[in-house]
Amino acid sequence: MAEFTGRTALITGASSGIGVDIARELAKQGANVVLVARRADRLETLATELTALGVQATAVPCDLSDAAARTALAESQPNIDILVNNAGLGVFGMFADAAWDDLANMLNVNITALTHLTHLFAKPMAARGYGRVLMVASTAAFQPVPLYAAYAATKAYVLSLSEALNVEFKERGIKVTTLCPGTTASEFFDVAHHKKSMMVEKTMMTSEAVAKIGVDALVAGKSSIVAGVANSLMAFGTRFSPRSLSAALAYKIMKP
Ligand SMILES: NC(=O)c1ccc[n+]([C@@H]2O[C@H](COP(=O)([O-])OP(=O)(O)OC[C@H]3O[C@@H](n4cnc5c(N)ncnc54)[C@H](OP(=O)(O)O)[C@@H]3O)[C@@H](O)[C@H]2O)c1
Repeated sequence: MAEFTGRTALITGASSGIGVDIARELAKQGANVVLVARRADRLETLATELTALGVQATAVPCDLSDAAARTALAESQPNIDILVNNAGLGVFGMFADAAWDDLANMLNVNITALTHLTHLFAKPMAARGYGRVLMVASTAAFQPVPLYAAYAATKAYVLSLSEALNVEFKERGIKVTTLCPGTTASEFFDVAHHKKSMMVEKTMMTSEAVAKIGVDALVAGKSSIVAGVANSLMAFGTRFSPRSLSAALAYKIMKP
């Protein structure tokens, strides 16, 4: 029997990229899936695809930047065993030149929505004594990243929150796994208005590979996982280099 047979997973950001492939991987693990994002047509298409695998798949369109919508989402889904906080976005470019509304939306989705959903769903999970949470952070969580300054800071928040909650939640039967992808082919760069450099293009992983690594780590109950060998080495390397040097190197890599 697959690991999550009969369990129900809610996946945010299931209309594109890594979220679509995490939903596919969880369906392969036997989980019923609740697919959340704003683009309803894409969620419906994925729900049809996953239903054919023999699990229940439900499309629930929701704008996660809206606090009332998040609360309504949790109220409409009282039996979630697995929460995947994947929805997120980046704002690329010089911090001083960015529009405040874009930065505020990113902080809201990447930090506030993720924290609020975890709070909303952890309570019923704790009451049932079972829960799994997959947080999608980034290798940007390990170091400062000029031109993605605020984005990288949101991901450092996600990693720190998740690692602390994994310890806190243990006695309630909830495990938290943090997935840290490096650059991954998806709509992320278009949304961030980032024209990719050759270096970024060359080092990209597929969303399928990243999602499989994340769900495998979730199944294994790991606290955190970096996607891919090269990204793991890079993340490990940040422990030994001064943060100012890591920041300068990241600037070189990110600069178009
Ligand atoms: N791609 C990379 O290089 C990379 C690297 C490290 C980490 N990550 C992280 O991986 C996660 C997934 O990103 P991706 O690469 O798969 O990018 P993507 O293809 O752009 O997907 C982002 C997803 O987030 C959803 N989303 C954004 N704002 C939302 C909102 N207000 N309400 C509901 N859903 C919202 C989008 O759905 P709608 O637009 O339909 O709402 C979409 O499904 C993000 O947290 C990202 O930071 C990505």
